[in-house]
Amino acid sequence: MKIDIKINEVNDKFNQEISIVNSIEDLEKIKNKYLSRKGLVASLFSELANLDSAERPKFGNILNDLKLKITNVISAKVSTITSSEKQNNNSLDVTLPGKITNTGCVHPLTKVISQIESIFTKIGFSIAYGPEVDSDFFNFEALNIPKHHPARDMQDTFYLNDGHVLRTHTSNSQIHFMLNNKPPIRIIAPGRVYRNEDVSVRSYCLFHQIEGLYVDENVTFSDLKSVLNYFARELFGNDVKTRFRPSYFPFTEPSAEMDVYWGLESESDKRITKGTGWLEILGCGMVDPKVFNNVDYDASKLTGYAFGVGIERIAMLLYGIEDIREFYKGDIRFTGQFK
Ligand code: PHE
Repeated sequence: MKIDIKINEVNDKFNQEISIVNSIEDLEKIKNKYLSRKGLVASLFSELANLDSAERPKFGNILNDLKLKITNVISAKVSTITSSEKQNNNSLDVTLPGKITNTGCVHPLTKVISQIESIFTKIGFSIAYGPEVDSDFFNFEALNIPKHHPARDMQDTFYLNDGHVLRTHTSNSQIHFMLNNKPPIRIIAPGRVYRNEDVSVRSYCLFHQIEGLYVDENVTFSDLKSVLNYFARELFGNDVKTRFRPSYFPFTEPSAEMDVYWGLESESDKRITKGTGWLEILGCGMVDPKVFNNVDYDASKLTGYAFGVGIERIAMLLYGIEDIREFYKGDIRFTGQFK
């Protein structure tokens, strides 16, 4: 076959192949096929040696032009393909599934605390805080729990080397607040408390309470009962049944515990209420005059009530959580359920 026919064939084949290529990989293959050292163009060049010397320059030029053309067409095609790939990447594909971003959520205990805060702030209580590390005076002494008094056994305490304690209840906030403020007083004080207890499904070495304190003239036990009944209705609904049982706390007299009726329908109701149907949710009572004396309040004029609510207990009831330790693990599969 004559060289000019072969050149035309290669040219035609190239034109045809390049017209349908649309990926960089295929383009690479074409480039190899035509322009590599053993490619089609190179093999045409090697045939020049077989030509008459008079014909060689002419076909040499034709082949150079062909090589140049193929090189230019390929590089033009590379840029069209890459720019259209870029455009595809930038354009919006509305059929793609959206990206799921994880939004955080409020911890169930924080949720219950804010719920209780809003129940009490609605009726005129403000929010105060006491320290988690405190002196023996604020946690015990001023609350009428003297050293070596058997009442200290109620709260198994963590002592620090310097004589401070991790507070065993939020009642220390009562003393701080009364020493720094004049009556009348109407506060709630949420926070963490610590006790050296055996860890189980029901108890942990730290937990949360909300303290309540109301001090004024003529505050009575019926004020206490009505405010706590209001609290229970707001939290558990209007049908909630409550009862007050006599109890003992060194800093209140008389003292009581409030139970809510949980029911006895299911096996789990029976288990968590120990077969009674009733669940204790808080301790309360009228502020003992000795506590007023300890903060220089006039116990002959003032009366008051105080209460302490266990937050974990309430969160467990509201959300049906059976193991208290879930609250402290930080497992987002647990906390994420309370969005
Ligand atoms: N501080 C008590 C406790 O932790 C609860 C309480 C608070 C009782 C206020 C009466 C008044 O058990």
